[in-house]
Amino acid sequence: MRTVDIIQKKRDGFPLKEKEIRFLIEGYTRGEIPDYQLSAWAMAVYFQGMNAQETAILTDAMASSGERVDLSPIHGVKVDKHSTGGVGDKTTLIVGPLVAACGVPVAKMSGRGLGHTGGTIDKLEAIPGFHVELTREEFITNVNTIGLSVISQSGNVTPADKKLYALRDVTATVDSIPLIASSVMSKKIASGADAIVLDVKFGSGAFMKTKEEAETLARAMVEIGREVGRKTIAILSSMEQPLGYAVGNALEVKEAIATLNGKGPEDLTELCLTLSAWMIYLGKKAPTIEEARSLAEQALYEGKALSLFADFVAAQGGNPIVSEKPEEVLPQAKRVVQVLSRERGYIMGIHGEKVGLAAMKSGAGRETKESSIDPSAGVILYKKSGDQMEVGQCLAEIHCDSAIDVSQAIELLIEAYEFSPHPGEGSPLLGGVIQ
Ligand code: URA
Repeated sequence: MRTVDIIQKKRDGFPLKEKEIRFLIEGYTRGEIPDYQLSAWAMAVYFQGMNAQETAILTDAMASSGERVDLSPIHGVKVDKHSTGGVGDKTTLIVGPLVAACGVPVAKMSGRGLGHTGGTIDKLEAIPGFHVELTREEFITNVNTIGLSVISQSGNVTPADKKLYALRDVTATVDSIPLIASSVMSKKIASGADAIVLDVKFGSGAFMKTKEEAETLARAMVEIGREVGRKTIAILSSMEQPLGYAVGNALEVKEAIATLNGKGPEDLTELCLTLSAWMIYLGKKAPTIEEARSLAEQALYEGKALSLFADFVAAQGGNPIVSEKPEEVLPQAKRVVQVLSRERGYIMGIHGEKVGLAAMKSGAGRETKESSIDPSAGVILYKKSGDQMEVGQCLAEIHCDSAIDVSQAIELLIEAYEFSPHPGEGSPLLGGVIQ
C-alpha cells in the first residue's frame, strides 16, 4: 500500500477502505508517514468528506493508537460528557457532582486550556491543594467511594489524535466535520466511557457558527457512537454569549459553587440540569428523561451535589471549605478594572472568543502551551443578552495582577458586545437533542 495512492483516492472523492485508513493512522502514529502526507490527506478529507463508516473506522483507529483506559473495576454504567468547547463553560464542575450524587459514577479525564478556551483541569487547580495527577488505583477508588474523580488526560491516550489535531491546527483543516467528530469520539472511547453525552455548541463563540452545522456534527458523532456500540446523545447549545458570567479559573469555580448552591446563573443552571438528566438517564438511574431531570433537580436544590463536591475536592487534596466559603479559600486578583460601555442600547450577543481572549490577556489563559497562568485572573460579565445598557455603565470587570497591561483586554471586551437600538430575545440556549 502506498500513502500517495490513498491521498489521491480521497482527493478524487472515493471512500477509503478500512485497511487504508488503519494503514494511514498506524503509520502516522509510528512516525513512518510524514506530516506533509497526512496534511495532504486531511485537506482531501476537508474537501471530500468521509461517509459514516469511514468516520467510525477512523475513530476506532485513533482510539486504538494508544492506551485504552479500563474502567471495568468501577461499578455501574460509566457516562462521560464532552463539550465541543465554549467560553465560561464550567459545566463539568457542576454536572460531575450532580450526577454522582444521583448514583452515576463519573471517572473523568479532562484537559487544560489553550488560547481563548479554558480547561477543567486549570479550573480545579485554582482550588488550593487540589491535584489532578492520581494513580490509576486512587482514581478508581475515588470513583467507587465518592462517585467522582477528575484527572489530567493521560499522555498515552489517543496519540494519533494528538499528532493529527496539532497538524490540523496549522494546516487549516480543523473545521472538518468527520475530522472533529472522530477526534472527539476517539478520546471518549479510549477513555473507557460506556455512554456519552455531548454538548455541541453553535454560535459566534463556537467552532460551528450555525445550529445547522452543529446538528450535522452532532449527528456524525451520534452515528459513530452507534457504529462502535457506545450509546451517544448530543445536546445542541448556544454559544452566542459565554455561559454564566465568569470566565477565568477561580472565578469560574466560585460561580460553579454558587450554581451547586442553587444560586447560579439561569443559563448555566439550565444547561447543567439538561446534561445531568441525560447522563442520569443513560446511566440507568431513571427510567425516563423526565424522572432523570427531577432527580437532578433534587440533588441540586437539596444540597447533595454541593456536599459531594466538597468530598471530591477533599479526596484530591483540595480545601473542602471552598464549597462553603469560596471567597476566603480561592485566590483573589490584586486588581479589578471596570470596563464601561461606550454605547447605549440592548445587548444582542457577546462574542465568546473575544471574551475568552480578554480573559487570556488578563492572565487567565495560555497564549502557548508553555505559558503559565494566574488562577485568580479573568473576566466577570455584568450584563448579558437582552439587557439594556447606557453609556458609562459597567459592562464587565477584569480581574488581574497589578503588573498586567489591561488595554487590549478592555478593547476586546468592548468589541465583544453587540448592541441594537431595539429590545430582542437573543438566541435560545438549547437547540434540541440528537439521539
Ligand atoms: N475538539 C477536539 O477534541 N477535536 C477537534 O478536532 C475539535 C475540537
